[in-house]
Amino acid sequence: MFRRGLAAALAAGVLVSMLAACGGGQDSSANQSGGGSDQLTLGFSQVGAESGWRTANTKSVQEAAKEAGIDLKFSDAQQKQENQIKAIRSFIQQKVDAIAFSPVVESGWDTVLKEVKDAGIPVILTDRAVDSTDTSLYKTFIGSDFVVEGTKAGEWLVKEYEGKPDPVNIVELQGTTGSAPANDRKKGFGDVVAADPKFKIIASQTGDFTRAKGKEVMEAFLKANKDIDVLFAHNDDMGLGAIEAIEGAGLRPGTDIKIITIDGVKDGMQALADGKISFIAECSPLLGPQLMDLVKKAVKGEQIPTRVLTEETTFTQEQAKAALPGRKY
Ligand code: AHR
Repeated sequence: MFRRGLAAALAAGVLVSMLAACGGGQDSSANQSGGGSDQLTLGFSQVGAESGWRTANTKSVQEAAKEAGIDLKFSDAQQKQENQIKAIRSFIQQKVDAIAFSPVVESGWDTVLKEVKDAGIPVILTDRAVDSTDTSLYKTFIGSDFVVEGTKAGEWLVKEYEGKPDPVNIVELQGTTGSAPANDRKKGFGDVVAADPKFKIIASQTGDFTRAKGKEVMEAFLKANKDIDVLFAHNDDMGLGAIEAIEGAGLRPGTDIKIITIDGVKDGMQALADGKISFIAECSPLLGPQLMDLVKKAVKGEQIPTRVLTEETTFTQEQAKAALPGRKY
């Protein structure tokens, strides 16, 4: 029994290495339930490991696959679209039952998605959308409304500065260029603050959703601009990097510069509870269980909704303090 298990594990290891060699990203596969031949196989191409949110999302998908008895073939694209396209083609060759992926950027997917459709494999978009006009290329899209998240961030700011003197100088740390959350959060926030001329976005640049880039770009913002009132960061990690830059410049985050972020991961919530971040619009990474449900239904050819929206809230300092003890990620 053990020897058979060992042989299977070694064979799986060889297959994983072969896939990693041709896939470009980092792949792993696990027959996690030990089920029979009718076990579903899901190819999942993840964006990368750029943020605390992403780590929590990967964990949620892996745990939910195990729980649902689905064999998950996981590929980490390391924030590169070309790696995701290679992984998807590799999933087609392996004849998986379904493919799910979180597209690193919005555009450039039609060709590979047509290949998946021709192979008769259902596709589920998770977390991020594509801009394909042909919506028959995927069955559904599960994830947040990023425009609404940006809108909530903007609305908090407008309320916070009600009756206070102008101007209010804002700097913005954008997510990965061309990604759905960067495009949509920028739009949601920008549309709200544009309604009042006292709000001025004086600098806006990508920090690629990482802490290191958030720090680096905030340092540059601080050097170039003497009078920054507010930072809007498209995720917690960039906000946390920016906090280091602000403190390094001898300023007090949350007091000298108000910080608004999106996500609500533990480190972000702690910074909010400590008063360094002022407001967080939540983006939930816990998409795994719903994704597995949709996969099962899509493979059976059952009707599924074309859009599954994630429920989310917002956090002030007091709400973060209350939520932190039970926060799972
Ligand atoms: O697509 C979701 C975004 O990607 C999260 O807000 C961010 O933290 C992540 O990297």
